[in-house]
Amino acid sequence: MTNPYIPWPVRVERVTIENDAHDLKTFELSFVNPADRESFRFAPGQFGFLSISGVGEAPFGIASAPHEDRIWYTVKRAGAFTTALHEIETGTTIGMRGPYGNSYPLDLAKGKDLVIVSGGFSFTTLRSTVVHVLKHRSEFGKLTVVYGARSAGELLYKDELHAWEKSADLHLVVCVDRLSGAPWPAREGLVPNVLKEVAPAAANAVALVCGPPIMIRYTHPVLETLGFKPNQVFLSLENRMKCGIGKCGRCNIGEKYVCKDGPVFSYEALSKLPTDY
Ligand SMILES: Cc1cc2nc3c(=O)[nH]c(=O)nc-3n(C[C@H](O)[C@H](O)[C@H](O)COP(=O)(O)OP(=O)(O)OC[C@H]3O[C@@H](n4cnc5c(N)ncnc54)[C@H](O)[C@@H]3O)c2cc1C
Ligand code: FES
Repeated sequence: MTNPYIPWPVRVERVTIENDAHDLKTFELSFVNPADRESFRFAPGQFGFLSISGVGEAPFGIASAPHEDRIWYTVKRAGAFTTALHEIETGTTIGMRGPYGNSYPLDLAKGKDLVIVSGGFSFTTLRSTVVHVLKHRSEFGKLTVVYGARSAGELLYKDELHAWEKSADLHLVVCVDRLSGAPWPAREGLVPNVLKEVAPAAANAVALVCGPPIMIRYTHPVLETLGFKPNQVFLSLENRMKCGIGKCGRCNIGEKYVCKDGPVFSYEALSKLPTDY
């Protein structure tokens, strides 16, 4: 039996600074043994653990799409591990284990409209979702994405956002909490308010939501007002984790393990759980 805690060696191929504060970086990784890439099959919404020998490990959502060769993670500098990761240089070998957890319900969404709502640096696994859906465009209905951040400088993947704004394949609405004179984006407003104005149709649609708790709290009533039922709305959680594989009990909500039963839950499923998420 293989040890599930042993990470694959992966090489840091590229590091991109995503924001003005320089505390958000995207790491593009390749497998040191190319055959491992074949074994690393994942779906949008799943996560992995990155590790640095002698420092530790931490979980992060996979930001690349399954068909992309390199595995992307976008990481905010928060404490000891993420600070060490931010200091890593290209060409360095680190560890990665996973993929873990369930994924966004893209099979359920096939043939339906997809509404993606996100704020700040939580857009990572939804970036994976958008890139995946664009690759398999004919399998889905209308794709609406509402993505916001505090300011223009805090938006992730700016080059892609610019390209997607011009694309007929999706309706992307980018917003910032407060305009600051920057030429882009032009739309001011908090994500839930902008979602209300965009008003995507709920009939035959699935909504995927990932963002800071405050955004999630105010987004849910807007989706309800638009007619989305609890079984049409899916949310990705980021409870603290240790093992990632349902062994340690660090991440559970009631009887559910966020690492194994989630991190993606429908509002319908969450409404049956204690509210400590
Ligand atoms: C499933 C999952 C996916 C995640 N995806 C991403 C991602 O794509 N990008 C990213 O930057 N981060 C992500 N995180 C959070 C990331 O794991 C933590 O920021 C990281 O573990 C911090 O490690 P550290 O040693 O640098 O800081 P620590 O010293 O462990 O923590 C620094 C600060 O961050 C807080 N913190 C740590 N973990 C969490 C958490 N899960 N939720 C809220 N606050 C936390 C601590 O309380 C402390 O205040 C994810 C977490 C989970 C569980
Ligand atoms: S992190 Fe150990 S059980 Fe979920």
